[in-house]
Amino acid sequence: MSTVSLSRLDREIDELAAISAHPAPAVTRVLFSAEDLKARDWLRARAKEAGFHVRQDPVGNVFIRWEGSEPCLPAVATGSHTDAIPNAGKYDGVVGVLGGLEAMRQLKEAGHKPKRSIELIMFTSEEPTRFGIGCLGSRLMAGTTSPEEAGALRDRDGRSLEDLREAAGCRGNLGAVKLSTGAYRAFIELHIEQGPLLEEKEIDIGIVEKIAAPSAFRLLLKGVGGHAGAVLMPERKDAFMAAAEIALLVEKAALQSGSPDTVGTVGLVEVKPGAINSIPCDVKMEVDFRDTNREARDKALARIGDGTHAICARRGVKIDWQVINQDPPALCDPALVKMVEAKAIAAGFSTSRMVSRAYHDSLFMARVCPTAMIFIPCFNGYSHRPDEYSSPEAIAKGVEVLAGCLKELSLQ
Ligand code: HGY
Ligand code: MN
Ligand code: MN
Repeated sequence: MSTVSLSRLDREIDELAAISAHPAPAVTRVLFSAEDLKARDWLRARAKEAGFHVRQDPVGNVFIRWEGSEPCLPAVATGSHTDAIPNAGKYDGVVGVLGGLEAMRQLKEAGHKPKRSIELIMFTSEEPTRFGIGCLGSRLMAGTTSPEEAGALRDRDGRSLEDLREAAGCRGNLGAVKLSTGAYRAFIELHIEQGPLLEEKEIDIGIVEKIAAPSAFRLLLKGVGGHAGAVLMPERKDAFMAAAEIALLVEKAALQSGSPDTVGTVGLVEVKPGAINSIPCDVKMEVDFRDTNREARDKALARIGDGTHAICARRGVKIDWQVINQDPPALCDPALVKMVEAKAIAAGFSTSRMVSRAYHDSLFMARVCPTAMIFIPCFNGYSHRPDEYSSPEAIAKGVEVLAGCLKELSLQ
């Protein structure tokens, strides 16, 4: 296997990073924004240059296909996402999409003739920025989210998925996105670790065995507004003070869950009326709460639920608790895990089995077909920030292991 063409891949990562709503080094590419659409066009052009066939499904998942000699066999798939949360970095998701494209090109340029087709998938909306829920494209593929639930989604400006996908040129009924089980022979996602372990331990390749169980919920708190100076404290029903207590309860529940992998934060808070001298009457807060262990997570969630209702009752604040998602963890396929490990060791790379604390489209592809993930180190474990970084050498090792797996699987 010839070494991965570093310069081409490195250049393309930079080219894609320049398609952003915010200036470098930040990358912002929100689902169906002008930048997202431009990035999709850019990716389609690279795929066509490489001689691969490109199609898109009704929700905007993009499929880049290298037809095999037996096209009726379930294809081998790889892929990830190119959408990016506000003020993110240029490697999250992109390493899996452009690294997957590079693996396919390298195999083709080396004369590989696949029996099974090989498909690179660019998943729609892995990030929750637009509609509040992550992995919308792979959820619909796995049938975890129904077309009706997806059709009911609205962004913060009230725009529907229907309107936005129509404007993005995604045609067809959302029901057609769902894949049958076994639609693919296997799915392998290459991704930066988004954590510090591989870099700390100087490990080249992380082999994911389990993907954490993410949950997210939205709390709409309704208190009583009023003049910040005139209303005495005992009369107040301050929605933000209730939210503040709840936020600290989220942190406490994560710290005291008994599981080291329980994590929780409140990443989004909107306060109304939003004036310094006006008591907050309405607060919208969105909570992200996860663990690799579903029971530990759900026990902690129940504690947050009880505590939240007690806080609101004591403060006279009304609450509407909306579950956004509460997913089980996913196990990677043991045979694929072994294959990734064997390819990495054969290439002379150091390896470590691990869990993924971030979620990925693999979390849902694992419900469609045997799935595995290849992690590569990233600087200080940073991610979802402009100084996210993974070296060309680290990326090349990940691509080489991925290419080895795609080659073997496509000949089975
Ligand atoms: O939030 C996540 O785990 C993923 O990066 N979207
Ligand atoms: Mn991300
Ligand atoms: Mn990602």
